[in-house]
Amino acid sequence: MKSTGDFQKMKAAGDKIVMMTAYDFPTAAMAEEGGVDVILVGDSLGMVVLGYDSTVPVTAEDMIHHGKAVRRGAKNTFIAVDLPFATYHGSMDRTLETGARIFRETGADALKLEGAGPVSDSIRTLVSAGMPVVAHLGLLPQSAGVLGGYKVQGKDAEAANRLLEEAKEVEAAGACMLVVECVPYQLAQRVAAAASIPVIGIGAGAGTDGQVLVFHDLAGYGSHRVPKFVRRFADSGAEALRGISGFAAAVRDGSFPAEEHRFTMKEEEVGKLYG
Ligand code: KIV
Ligand code: NA
Repeated sequence: MKSTGDFQKMKAAGDKIVMMTAYDFPTAAMAEEGGVDVILVGDSLGMVVLGYDSTVPVTAEDMIHHGKAVRRGAKNTFIAVDLPFATYHGSMDRTLETGARIFRETGADALKLEGAGPVSDSIRTLVSAGMPVVAHLGLLPQSAGVLGGYKVQGKDAEAANRLLEEAKEVEAAGACMLVVECVPYQLAQRVAAAASIPVIGIGAGAGTDGQVLVFHDLAGYGSHRVPKFVRRFADSGAEALRGISGFAAAVRDGSFPAEEHRFTMKEEEVGKLYG
């Protein structure tokens, strides 16, 4: 398994870090087999696999449930788990309690939190208790309501400079990595150049130290809408649908199950049946 130190070396060497979300056992196993460097158990699972309209309804229990399945599927890959909506704000005691519970019960290697400002104190608290933290700046899906929707962030110099300050702040708070989401590529490039920690982009251009995508987006699995910054590297949903339609048609026309799928009892036993 790669460590935070290895990611630091990858940044220095210019080797791109590959991060992908996974929410279950088979996807985690495929991520590991496919050579993904970091698996993110993102709270995007709320939208992608639970069918919510946002990440807001996702609970700590949801993250633990999915995080444990991912850990079982990828024992040798660095796993970061998102802290869900409003669980790391206000009380530091509660932040520590929830963070430690998710970290311990999932067996994650890191936690991820959205934002800076007061959230930097949460980062510091978690790191001081021994939990590596991945920061997340730019578009913060848990705060979409406050940000006025799912929009590109840091488009003007003032907002961009604020984000550069936030990046310094989360690094100083002890974050081991930073995800920047949905920002102009020029800004993401500056953030990556200015930061000592690896910066992973999503919707942030090619100038970061690595890239992250949601598995269902890159694999073309599911019916959810896909943002502009995604490339569909496969059409696995269409393949799965082909399987489902084939199964239904074969059941209906009697071609499944066939002889090779059935079990047999001896004829003498059949003769003793009452029915
Ligand atoms: O929840 C998630 O999938 C994320 C990534 C988009 C970075 O936070
Ligand atoms: Na997330």
